[in-house]
Amino acid sequence: MAQVHLRKIVKEYEGGVQAVKGIDLDIADHEFVVLVGPSGCGKSTTLRMIAGLEEISSGEIDIGGSIVNDVPPRDRDIAMVFQNYALYPHMTVYDNMAFGLMLRKFDKTEIKRRVENAAKILDIGMLLDRKPKALSGGQRQRVAMGRAIVRDPAVFLFDEPLSNLDAKLRVQMRTEIKKVHQTVKTTTIYVTHDQIEAMTLADRVVVMNHGNIEQVGPPQELYHHPRTRFVAGFIGSPSMNFMPAKLEGNGAALTLHLPDGIRLPIPAARTARYAPHAGKDVLFGIRPEHLTETRQTEHRANVAVFEAAPEVVEPMGMETLLHFWMQGHEICARFDPAVEVSPGQRVPMAVDMDQMHLIDPQTDLVL
Ligand SMILES: Nc1ncnc2c1ncn2[C@@H]1O[C@H](COP(=O)(O)OP(=O)(O)O)[C@@H](O)[C@H]1O
Ligand SMILES: [Mg+2]
Repeated sequence: MAQVHLRKIVKEYEGGVQAVKGIDLDIADHEFVVLVGPSGCGKSTTLRMIAGLEEISSGEIDIGGSIVNDVPPRDRDIAMVFQNYALYPHMTVYDNMAFGLMLRKFDKTEIKRRVENAAKILDIGMLLDRKPKALSGGQRQRVAMGRAIVRDPAVFLFDEPLSNLDAKLRVQMRTEIKKVHQTVKTTTIYVTHDQIEAMTLADRVVVMNHGNIEQVGPPQELYHHPRTRFVAGFIGSPSMNFMPAKLEGNGAALTLHLPDGIRLPIPAARTARYAPHAGKDVLFGIRPEHLTETRQTEHRANVAVFEAAPEVVEPMGMETLLHFWMQGHEICARFDPAVEVSPGQRVPMAVDMDQMHLIDPQTDLVL
């Protein structure tokens, strides 16, 4: 078990590309931290530097109280699970899990104890004699995790371990990984491009973009209090809507002027916060789930209503997504499927203004 600290970590590849631009991150013992961000943002590079598979251009990595910059991967007390977790095809499941321990000269009884314990945690006890080709994708993934668990490392590192699985299996294995962490409690750093995976697994999510950390926080905090436009748009599905707007009024009362003559009153509780920006152009951010049919929100205090004519109607079963355009910006609303809407029909949209966000279009920071 261990804490992990990254201090001003930079990775510059040959040719001067800075893949990681000086990030700081403190990970507590037992914590499950997920690095999430779009492809190419530096997640794998960061993880590989922690693993020791990639040299650090500058900065310090501390695992369990010692600086490991010059410690080779095999001495870092970490275990890594990749997207391509090649199992040895000619070995049984038992031997696949035992192999790393055999190389490290563990004695037979200890190996047996560890493999059986991992098999129990992963519920693959009945598969120990099989070869990988006789396993399903999910079972193979479990064996790959088993190989990491038997090592009993200070830190688990996962790099998109579920990306090769089909959608249904991915959701199952996600639950499985969470369960395993609740059992073994090993400090875990997990990389994914999938924000839902990040939200569902993490104690804390680290949102990366262009080699920088945009924001670190528990999933609910990132969802409710994004600090940048990038985080606001990246976390949540479908993504937050952004509409160009102007903030009008003064310290006493503020109104948001949207395209098409739409006026939305700012809740009183927010006037002090937004008053310094009165008169400015802003981006109004609202999630699809906070843009709904009017009946659902009748009992709420700060609900504003405007009309729009959705061009595309997508029934999802549990909800219906409506899409309309506002000055070139695509806006998505989530309606109760019981409310029937035809494309082109003007419908009232209720905005839960307590859930609104304002963004400075100059800095992309949430106000
Ligand atoms: N070996 C390498 N040489 C040069 N550039 C690299 C190398 N590996 C990765 N990069 C670049 O570094 C950036 C970050 O890559 P990576 O960490 O793999 O991103 P992610 O895992 O977030 O998709 C990308 O722009 C990528 O092209
Ligand atoms: Mg990657």
